[in-house]
Amino acid sequence: MTPTEILRHEHQIILKVLNRVEQIAAPEAPVDPAELAEIVDFIRTFADRCHHGKEENQLFALMAERGFSFDFGPLAVMMAEHDQGRAFVRAVALELEKGDGAPDVSIVKENLAAYAGLLRGHIAKEDTILYPMADTTFSPEDQQALLEAFERVESEMGEGTHEKYHALADRLAADCPARPEHDPIAAGGIHACPSFCH
Ligand SMILES: [Fe+2]
Ligand SMILES: [Fe+2]
Repeated sequence: MTPTEILRHEHQIILKVLNRVEQIAAPEAPVDPAELAEIVDFIRTFADRCHHGKEENQLFALMAERGFSFDFGPLAVMMAEHDQGRAFVRAVALELEKGDGAPDVSIVKENLAAYAGLLRGHIAKEDTILYPMADTTFSPEDQQALLEAFERVESEMGEGTHEKYHALADRLAADCPARPEHDPIAAGGIHACPSFCH
C-alpha cells in the first residue's frame, strides 16, 4: 500500500462511524451518552490523533517541504477543517462532561450533524484532489519515508490500537444501512473549485 492508500482506507473506517453519527443526529433518534462517549473516543483517537496526525505531521509536512504552503491553498484549508471538526467534537464532549448524565440533546445533534457534514466533504476533497496532488509530487523515496513515518505513528499509538478502533467502528455502524461509496459531489465537498478556494 502507498501512504495515500493507507489514508484512504482509514477514511472508509471513519465514514462507517459517520453513518452512525448521522443516524443519532436525526431529530427523533435517541441519544445514549455511553455510545456518544465511544463515538467521541473514536473521533479523538482514531480520526484525529492517528489519521489527522499522519496527515498534519507527515503527509502535509512533506508536501510543505516540496513547495506547498501552510498559509493558503489546499493545506491551509485542510488544516482549518481539522480545527473546525475538533471544535464540533469539543462541543459534544462538553455536554458529556457536565456530569449529570443528561447532555443537551439539541446541542449534541447540531454538532454531530455539523461534524459529519464537514468530514464527508473534507474526506471527499482529500480522496479526489489532495492525495492525487501529493502522489504526483512525491518521489519513490518520499513515499517510502512516509510509509516508515506512518509505521512509527502506529507504534506510538500502541500495539492493537488500530485494530481496537476498527472493531469499534464496525460495532457502532452495525445497524446502519449500507451506503454506497461516498460521492464527493453529493457530499458538497467539491464543485468546480479544485483549488480549494472555499
Ligand atoms: Fe484531513
Ligand atoms: Fe483524511
